[in-house]
Amino acid sequence: MSDNILTYFEQIKAQGLSIDITRGKPDASQLDLANGLLSMSVEPFDGNVDLRNYGEPHGIKDARVLGSEVLSAPFENVITGEQSSLMLTYQMILSKYLFAKPLPWRDIENPKFICPVPGFDRHFRMLEDFGIEMITVPLEEDGIDTEMLSEVLHNNSNVLGIICVPRHSNPSGEVYSDENINQLFKIGKKYSEDFLFLFDHAYLVHDFLPTKNQTPVWKLAERNSTTNQTVVVTSFSKVTFGGGGLSFMVAASENLDLIKRIRGSMVICPDKVNQKRHTQFFKDLNAIKDHMKKHADLVRPKFEIAYKALETLDKEIGEYSQPTGGYFITFTSKKGIASRIVELCKEAGVLLTPAGATHPYGKDPKNNTLRIAPTFINESDLKVAMEVFVAAAQIAHAEN
Ligand SMILES: Cc1ncc(COP(=O)(O)O)c(C=O)c1O
Repeated sequence: MSDNILTYFEQIKAQGLSIDITRGKPDASQLDLANGLLSMSVEPFDGNVDLRNYGEPHGIKDARVLGSEVLSAPFENVITGEQSSLMLTYQMILSKYLFAKPLPWRDIENPKFICPVPGFDRHFRMLEDFGIEMITVPLEEDGIDTEMLSEVLHNNSNVLGIICVPRHSNPSGEVYSDENINQLFKIGKKYSEDFLFLFDHAYLVHDFLPTKNQTPVWKLAERNSTTNQTVVVTSFSKVTFGGGGLSFMVAASENLDLIKRIRGSMVICPDKVNQKRHTQFFKDLNAIKDHMKKHADLVRPKFEIAYKALETLDKEIGEYSQPTGGYFITFTSKKGIASRIVELCKEAGVLLTPAGATHPYGKDPKNNTLRIAPTFINESDLKVAMEVFVAAAQIAHAEN
């Protein structure tokens, strides 16, 4: 390592920077794209439905139709909820925990779940809340390492299901191939007819570069006769407004009954006015796709800035993902220095997601995976943050 880097780092530290690249959030210019929603007037009645009152617990018809287009699933199987798909996922797990047949999950001894890694910290947190042990399976370019999945299932009883992000996976960006999803269905179904396939499609319409073809997950579930075991969620959190969009779920049979059952105890109905506003804003899936192209044009340059910095790093220090959509880049160091990079960045005023956050229990066994979220900050801050990151990686590598 050259003295120049250390000198640069000391200079940067003296600047008192305060830059946060922890969470994958849209920036203000992306949010502006949906400003039409802010001033959109909504008629109080939608046919016979009074949007201002209780009613339509599974969402208004137009919003469920839109959800069924987005998820390529039958209208009857789609629920449109409030703003958070994470909440729908939590409600699904809670309903299984309390009421699943033949045995509620709370009565199952040492329940376990499969978590592909690297993964999304909130999925892990959720499963931890329910005392469900998480077993990791690595992700490969085409999706889940299915050989490893088979092995893990062979060696473990009471594995209740899997939670995964099949398109632009958070954080490493994999887009699962049809073949991979088909394999996943076959392996899980063979293991148990109660094995739950939970797909979090948070980045379903979030391509910013041409992306390989992927048959809709629900269609693949239909072909594999696994709809009874499959649940897919998505939301508009990164389409319109974070915390102000809509969420969607498709499920069938017992799972559909369970989600309706649990939601019936929690919410009398979702915000139908917001649902109506959104369905006026997006007439159909094509309108969503057009809107997402505008997001892509704003997001892509941020990723390019990050790559420009990362490509200056020696491959011996680490490698990085180059997704075609989503919100994250994953940096994988060759040595176990992820926590040291985070520490150094913090000293220089650049906040990274904690090392370990990409793995269950916050423990990355190799201490080599870091998530970079380039979208939220402005381009000049991002350039500085990435320079700091690169310097920190060089220093941590040399120290170790
Ligand atoms: C994989 C994944 N799922 C869910 C969410 C949150 O979605 P929502 O706002 O719909 O709850 C995020 C947001 O970062 C995410 O990355």
